[in-house]
Amino acid sequence: MSNISTSARQDLPNLVTALPGPKSKAVIERDAAVVSPSYTRSYPFVIERGEGAMVEDVDGNRFLDMNAGIAVVATGHCHPQVVAAIRAQAEKFLHMSGTDFYYENMVEFAEKLAAIAGPGDARRVYYGNSGTEAIEAALKMSRYHTGRDKFVAFLGGFHGRTMGALSLTGSKSVQKQGFSPLLGGVTHIPYAYCYRCAYGKQAETCNVECVKVLEETLFKTILPAKEVAAIFVEPVQGEGGYIVPPRKFFDELQAVAKRHGILLVCDEVQSGMGRTGKMFAYQHFGVDPDIVAIAKGIASGMPLSATVAKARYMQWTPGAHASTFGGNPVSVAAAMATVELIEKELLANTAEVGAHMKARMQEWPRRFPIVGEVRGLGLMLGFEIVRDQQTKERAPELRDAIVDAAYQRGLLVLGAGQNTVRLSPPLVLSKDQADFSLSTLEEILGGLTG
Ligand SMILES: Cc1ncc(COP(=O)(O)O)c(C=O)c1O
Repeated sequence: MSNISTSARQDLPNLVTALPGPKSKAVIERDAAVVSPSYTRSYPFVIERGEGAMVEDVDGNRFLDMNAGIAVVATGHCHPQVVAAIRAQAEKFLHMSGTDFYYENMVEFAEKLAAIAGPGDARRVYYGNSGTEAIEAALKMSRYHTGRDKFVAFLGGFHGRTMGALSLTGSKSVQKQGFSPLLGGVTHIPYAYCYRCAYGKQAETCNVECVKVLEETLFKTILPAKEVAAIFVEPVQGEGGYIVPPRKFFDELQAVAKRHGILLVCDEVQSGMGRTGKMFAYQHFGVDPDIVAIAKGIASGMPLSATVAKARYMQWTPGAHASTFGGNPVSVAAAMATVELIEKELLANTAEVGAHMKARMQEWPRRFPIVGEVRGLGLMLGFEIVRDQQTKERAPELRDAIVDAAYQRGLLVLGAGQNTVRLSPPLVLSKDQADFSLSTLEEILGGLTG
C-alpha cells in the first residue's frame, strides 16, 4: 500500500480525500468518453493497488473490499503465492494454445479439478476464459451428448451474456432487451426463493412445488421431458440475490433429472471455489452434478474457466469445441496456487468468519425494520432491504443508498437482485475486518431506520 494512507491499521479503511478524489474524477471522465456505456458502475471507485482484502484508490484512499471484484479474488488481492506462481510461469511461456498443443500444467490442473469435483465418477475438463464460456460449453455438450435441444433454467438465475448463456439467464430484463432472438427451447421456472415463494407456501406447507411443476405440469403440457437436454441451476443464486434453497429442492431436482435422463448442470461460477465454506456450494446439499461450470474465483483474478463433466458426457470429437486462450498457462498457474491456498487455509477461514458474520447479521431483522431477510453460506452473504417487513415490499432505492453510504465510509459492497446487498469478500477476510464492515453497515442501517 502507498504511504499516503496514514491510519495505524493497514487492514482497515482510511479516507484522505473527499470521495471521489480528483484523480479518480479525471479517470472517470476519460472512461465516459471511450469505454462501453453498458457497464454498470455503482460508485466512482478507481483502483490503484490491492493487497489482501484492502484496496487503495488512485487518490490514496484505502477501502475494505467486500466484493472481491465480484467474488473473484478468492485469495485476496495479489496474494504473494499467486503472484509468485504467475511470475514463474510467465518467465517460461505465456501461451501455446492447449487447443493445438500440450503443456503439463493444463493436465495437472484438470486432474486436480476432476478430483475436487467428485467423488465418484471419472471427470474431464474443458477450459475457457470466462463464466459465460463455461456455460456455453455445458450447453453444447449436453445437446451433443443427449441429442435433445431443450433446457430448463430458473427465474432470477444468471449464467452469462453470450447468446447461449444469455438465453438461460433469467435475472434482469435489461440484460435481454434488444438482443432477440435468443436460443429457442429454454423454459424458466421459479427458483426456491422461500422468502418470496412463488407458490405462496411456508416452510411447513412446502411440497417443493418449484420442482414438482416440472413433472406435474410442464412435462405434461408444453415441454416433453424427452426433449430436455439439461437443467441449469445455481446452487446458491448469486445475481438473483444470494438466495440459498433448502436441501429438499436439490433432492427433488436431482431425482427428476435422473428419472428423465436430463443432465443436471450446476453453475458454480459465483458460488464455487470455497466461497460458501466448501469448495463447491452443491456439496452443502448432497448434489452429484453431471456438469459443473466454474470461473470467477478459480484463478484469483486471472481469466480462466472450466467446465467439469462426468467423463461419459464429455465425449465430443476433436474440433467439436475449443478456444484459443482457454486454459492459458499463466492463468492455470494462478489457479493451482489458488486451489492450494483454498484447501490449506481459506476453507476454514471462510466457514469461521462467515459463521461469525451471519450470527451477527441474523439480529438485523429484529434491530432494523428495513432488513427483511439475512441469508447466505460462508462468505456469500446477503441481506434484503424492504419497505415493510410484513408486506415485504422491495426497497431498491434504500438498498442503493446503503451501497453508496458504505462507499462513502470506505467499504465496498454491491447490490444483487432487485433489493439485496451482497457481501462476497476475499476469503482471507479477518474477523476484525468482518466486524468493521458489519459495524459500518449497522451504523448505516440505524441511520436509515431513524
Ligand atoms: C452464476 C454465474 N454464472 C455465470 C456468470 C458469467 O460469468 P462471466 O461474467 O465470467 O462471463 C456469472 C457472472 O456473474 C455468474 O454469477
